[in-house]
Amino acid sequence: IQRTFSIIKPDATKRNLTGKIISKFEDAGLRVIASRRIQMTREQAEGFYAVHKERPFFGELVDFMISGPVVIQVLEGEDAIAKNREVMGATNPENADAGTIRKEFALSVGENSVHGSDAPETAAEEIKFFFKDEEIVG
Ligand code: GTP
Ligand code: MG
Repeated sequence: IQRTFSIIKPDATKRNLTGKIISKFEDAGLRVIASRRIQMTREQAEGFYAVHKERPFFGELVDFMISGPVVIQVLEGEDAIAKNREVMGATNPENADAGTIRKEFALSVGENSVHGSDAPETAAEEIKFFFKDEEIVG
């Protein structure tokens, strides 16, 4: 059993797609074991995406992530990290497979509805960045 960190991004919360996205996770066998709706601060967004700070789209990414509420979650399940990325689909919705969250809901490569951790180490770091142990109930 594995845990991963997920963000439902502002483009999705603004369009009231939170429930539809969570259903995709649950249908894939992922369980929501922690959840909070927040308005990220600029400092949080810059810290969370620090690995991307040299990328040309960093400023745009941070501005987008603080443009509205996000829903941060911990998802648990068999192979949760890979399974979550499968359900999310490719970063650019144009390249995402049919039935994935990004294919169905994402607006663009930037406004792509969801974030999901990409490896066990980043999953652990990202979960710790936003959640205390007692907020996670498996
Ligand atoms: P995450 O799960 O969010 O990490 O997505 P990813 O691993 O599929 O993509 P990556 O780590 O390469 O990029 C992180 C995030 O930066 C993406 O999810 C996008 O929101 C954003 N991003 C990536 N490429 C671009 C781009 O070319 N333009 C803009 N505006 N945003 C981008
Ligand atoms: Mg990534």
